[in-house]
Amino acid sequence: MTPDLIERSSIFIVDDEQANLRLLNKLLARQGYHHLVPIQDSREVLARYQAQRPDLILLDISMPHLDGYQVMAQLNALNDPFMPPIIVITAEYSREQILKALTLGARDLIGKPFDHNELLMRVRNLLDVQLAQRLLHDQKAVLEDMVRMRTEDLKQTRLQVVRRLGRVAEYRDNETGLHIVRMSQVSALLARSMGWSADQCELMLHASPMHDIGKIGIRDEILLKPGKLTVSEFNIMKTHASIGADMLAGDDSELLQLAHTIALSHHEKWDGSGYPGGLIGQAIPMAGRIVAVADVFDALTSSRPYKEAWPVDKAVAYITENSGKHFDPDVVVHFLRHLPEIIAIVEFHAEPA
Ligand code: C2E
Ligand code: SIN
Ligand code: SIN
Ligand code: FE
Ligand code: FE
Repeated sequence: MTPDLIERSSIFIVDDEQANLRLLNKLLARQGYHHLVPIQDSREVLARYQAQRPDLILLDISMPHLDGYQVMAQLNALNDPFMPPIIVITAEYSREQILKALTLGARDLIGKPFDHNELLMRVRNLLDVQLAQRLLHDQKAVLEDMVRMRTEDLKQTRLQVVRRLGRVAEYRDNETGLHIVRMSQVSALLARSMGWSADQCELMLHASPMHDIGKIGIRDEILLKPGKLTVSEFNIMKTHASIGADMLAGDDSELLQLAHTIALSHHEKWDGSGYPGGLIGQAIPMAGRIVAVADVFDALTSSRPYKEAWPVDKAVAYITENSGKHFDPDVVVHFLRHLPEIIAIVEFHAEPA
């Protein structure tokens, strides 16, 4: 992996109180961020913004001269299509205030006093989204110029985008990102076992992490709900497959085409009871059938906001019982044949205790 782009992000910290500025600065610096711009006088934000467009803004609300809302209004007037995300940090948390901040373009709100880890997590999450969008945008612009450039370079750019997008999706309901590492390795192993070429398996390794990228489009109340989803909530949840497919559509690289196929088909079921297409058997792309087994096995053995982790033998029994129902029986044969290696992958990348 390349040196972490995230830590090179520039972050404006706007707060009229010196103590708050120092605290936020220290917190972020300790985390490895090293382009931090503390601004105590909110009247300076606009000029600083125009001189050096930041990747993220932490913004206090109640400040003298220009309050946080006025600062946001100033920035909005610039009509910058790549406006960085703003996290509002405020002690006032009425419905009306929240609504006002969101209307003016805040992407997140954090109450004062704030939990340090929560703040860092949200900063990281928003920077990930921002960087992914920028990389995607840069990639498009760059592609127009560099059609003839060495394919190896392009491949690296794409991998960056793909990895980052996969991680963005994962942060929302699985903070360590290890699920995608495990399920992508298991997917590549199954593909290999089923006769895919080494190149195809490498594509599988890099494309499968994006299977749930569409979860970006699902509200936290649903995605992070601790309990069972209602029918209508689950119907919304199901749209993550086509949302993800739309996000990945229309690119002519093999990698993104495979990622598109996987996002669209990873919840189809062999017996036709899956979504979004209700496709049956061989009509489901092979990549989707492979990822379905790898994804569900790992989802079952992981804890989620809505469920405990299952023991491995219970998860294996589930996969076996659902061969020919949820899963392609042929993929299940290969899964069982390579079970010791699969368990080794899962254990090697286990969540930290
Ligand atoms: P996910 O957590 O990544 O789970 C992926 C798939 O693994 C699920 O697809 C399902 O096929 C399987 N799976 C995961 N946990 C269990 C389980 O406890 N029992 C069984 N039998 N299968 C399990 P599915 O059902 O289409 O769900 C897609 C996504 O919807 C899930 O992704 C998760 O984000 C969300 N979701 C599903 N059910 C619930 C729920 O009851 N509560 C919440 N909060 N989210 C849910
Ligand atoms: C403060 O500025 O320290 C408290 C008030 C606020 O930010 O909403
Ligand atoms: C990751 O490393 O983030 C996932 C697997 C890959 O794309 O290599
Ligand atoms: Fe999914
Ligand atoms: Fe998954």
